Amino acid sequence: MRRERRSVVAVQWIGPYALLRVTRGSLQPGVPGQFFMLEAPGRVLPRPMSLCFAPRGELAFLIDPIGPGTRALAELEPADELAVFGPLGNGFLLDVRRPLLVGGGIGIAPLPYLSEALDRPPAVVGFRSKHHAEAGALLPNAEIVIDPVLVTDAMATDRDVLACGPEPMLEAIRVLVPDAQLAWEAPMACGYGACYGCVVEIDGALERLCVEGPVLCSS
Ligand SMILES: Cc1cc2nc3c(=O)[nH]c(=O)nc-3n(C[C@H](O)[C@H](O)[C@H](O)COP(=O)(O)OP(=O)(O)OC[C@H]3O[C@@H](n4cnc5c(N)ncnc54)[C@H](O)[C@@H]3O)c2cc1C
Ligand code: FES
Repeated sequence: MRRERRSVVAVQWIGPYALLRVTRGSLQPGVPGQFFMLEAPGRVLPRPMSLCFAPRGELAFLIDPIGPGTRALAELEPADELAVFGPLGNGFLLDVRRPLLVGGGIGIAPLPYLSEALDRPPAVVGFRSKHHAEAGALLPNAEIVIDPVLVTDAMATDRDVLACGPEPMLEAIRVLVPDAQLAWEAPMACGYGACYGCVVEIDGALERLCVEGPVLCSS
């Protein structure tokens, strides 16, 4: 893991989401599901972001601009600089026989890089509107569903599920597929175990999600 100042290559809008492409420098892309802390200029705290793509010489992050930190990242312009720290946490285990990728909303973010690592397996992704569903085009072999249809209505339950999305979606998948690999979220200030801001209950014990996760096996 390293912390480097990187420059913005481009920001491309895909529906309501911003694909932020930065120069890679000597940062390693890491395992799909790992994350980076991105620090926009003028912001005190960095924000955790999953790696979405690792094109040659670049790292790319898909950002849902929901608050001041994510908006500052989405508003960056080519040649702007930001601090990038990672890769951090535990990603998905790639040793699976019949993968099915499942994403909800901005939870699609780590799936394109995961899809590439697993040789483009089938996927189901759900969005709240047609505008949000434009991001489905980033993921090969994906069935796209739009509310009120849910990913859990469309997904097979006899496969090795690897999922990222809102907590209610992950909870519903956990019931259907008890051994699914699920990427969870919690507010994170440091990303490497120092601040205890991301403590969640895992198997009855309080753990730091940035160290134990964000990907956890649910069984
Ligand atoms: C490991 C990890 C990977 C992530 N990957 C991505 C990604 O690839 N793309 C992306 O757009 N977002 C991702 N997120 C979520 C993103 O980091 C938060 O949306 C962001 O930190 C919000 O910052 P803000 O300043 O824009 O909004 P804030 O003002 O901080 O928050 C806006 C609202 O979102 C809630 N919130 C903030 N952070 C989180 C969180 N982590 N989990 C749940 N609720 C939260 C707040 O309570 C508030 O209601 C990831 C989070 C984690 C933990
Ligand atoms: S984010 Fe600081 S301990 Fe996890």
